[in-house]
Amino acid sequence: MENNKSLLNVKSVSKLYGIDKNKAIKIKKEGKGKDEIYKETGVTIALWDVSLDIKKGETFVIIGLSGSGKSTLVRCFNLLNKPTSGEIYYNGKDIGSFDKKELNNYRRNEISMVFQQFGLMSHRDVLGNVEYGLEVKGIPKAKRHTKAIEMISMVGLQGYEHEPISSLSGGMKQRVGIARALANDPEVLLMDEPFSALDPLVRKDMQFELLTIKEKLNKTIIFITHDINEAFKIGDRVAIMKDGEIIQVATPEEMSENPADDYVKQFIDSADKTQVISVKNVMITPNSIVRLKDSPNFAISTMKANGVSSAYVVQDKMRLQGVITIDDAIRANREGLSISDVIIHDVNTTTPDTILTDIIPMATKTRFPIAVVDETGALKGIISRAQVLSSML
Ligand SMILES: Nc1ncnc2c1ncn2[C@@H]1O[C@H](COP(=O)(O)OP(=O)(O)OP(=O)(O)O)[C@@H](O)[C@H]1O
Ligand SMILES: [Mg+2]
Repeated sequence: MENNKSLLNVKSVSKLYGIDKNKAIKIKKEGKGKDEIYKETGVTIALWDVSLDIKKGETFVIIGLSGSGKSTLVRCFNLLNKPTSGEIYYNGKDIGSFDKKELNNYRRNEISMVFQQFGLMSHRDVLGNVEYGLEVKGIPKAKRHTKAIEMISMVGLQGYEHEPISSLSGGMKQRVGIARALANDPEVLLMDEPFSALDPLVRKDMQFELLTIKEKLNKTIIFITHDINEAFKIGDRVAIMKDGEIIQVATPEEMSENPADDYVKQFIDSADKTQVISVKNVMITPNSIVRLKDSPNFAISTMKANGVSSAYVVQDKMRLQGVITIDDAIRANREGLSISDVIIHDVNTTTPDTILTDIIPMATKTRFPIAVVDETGALKGIISRAQVLSSML
């Protein structure tokens, strides 16, 4: 966080959908819940008395179950939604009092949105999408190209400027979405579940990318997610919502140490259970494989060539026999022994479909990378202790 300056100050914002709002407000004040109020009045309390102070330069994450009001709230920040009551101050100015011109300037220069479903224009190429906002602002072609190209390379898509959108993967499309939002050089990036359509590995890349971009550009990021792991990974502070209300705002550490209530606690407890990454998503191909009948000398040169100190020993059809270390291979070579004389049979193994969290205990103890074998015992890959543990971060 660059400093503690308040950037977006949300004061007691409520948003109700429906006709008889006064009746809904009255019974809400009597203490009835969102569902009950909807049944009685047909009014949805999408936000209730939300107050927040988002600081310049922070990554502020909003998390909550579906329907808890996350999108409604961030759409109030750029006035795509108008609060029923309450005020929002941006840099001390009440955005509700902006006239048309001020609102346009605010949306074009201060606050940009990145959407879950990318919202890209399929008839334009990457460059055409990224520079679109600048074009709307009337920035001359040469200048907007320079800026767009800079942002394309910021998100790691250099060389793709003239690719059609349809040829890109989901992760690449979302990079374009981010580059487009950044091209305006906004102070605030609003991101409404930007990574939830991506598969877990791409999602992790994008989380990392976002943190990197943030380091470089020092933007204020307001990020919505369903995923507590994602929230804790990228958030400086996390706000948790339920039925339109903010239940707790805290740093990830504070929140996990002192959850405000059972709802928060359940979210935190779900952290590990939602980790459904399986071994096959992160295993790598072992680069040092030897066969039982190979010479120890061959094993030594294979390990040396790959810069590793152990090799996996397989028999026909890649069936795993064990591991040989470089020290044992050297000893075998010197003493005229074979690989089968020095092989270590006691090797930790797992299967491709095992959930990563399930092998953490094994990973903390294993001496060699864990071997991934299929039902026939064939070696499919390996997974190192560091990979298992870092994938949990
Ligand atoms: N235009 C609308 N008209 C009526 N009700 C709405 C409207 N938009 C949202 N709501 C209601 O407001 C509540 C909050 O919705 P919102 O979309 O903000 O939730 P969310 O937390 O973003 O959910 P999700 O995780 O599913 O995206 C929900 O009960 C929703 O049904
Ligand atoms: Mg939403």
